[in-house]
Amino acid sequence: MIKLKVTDRDGQKHEIEAQEGDTLMEALREHDWGVSAICGGMCSCGTCHVYLNEEDGGKFPPVDIDEEDLVDMLEFTRESSRLSCQLTLSAEHNGVSLELAPEE
Ligand code: FES
Repeated sequence: MIKLKVTDRDGQKHEIEAQEGDTLMEALREHDWGVSAICGGMCSCGTCHVYLNEEDGGKFPPVDIDEEDLVDMLEFTRESSRLSCQLTLSAEHNGVSLELAPEE
């Protein structure tokens, strides 16, 4: 189990537990914060959009072309934007901090 720090869309901060090997989207979808992930992790809906804490962004593999294309089409894109369905959790992600992007 690893712990993640999440700021929801209302600005409330939470600490959640997640399973190594799951995607970040799967961990977030367990909670009632509006992460609908309607494409199921196929990198085609953008409803799993998050902003990673700057220091934590480097702990995940870089954005690939499919993710980049979709993120570029989202309304609330920032430098730190990632699609949480593309981020697989491992022990090194313990303590990662992130914020849910507004609903698209
Ligand atoms: S769940 Fe659809 S893009 Fe991530």
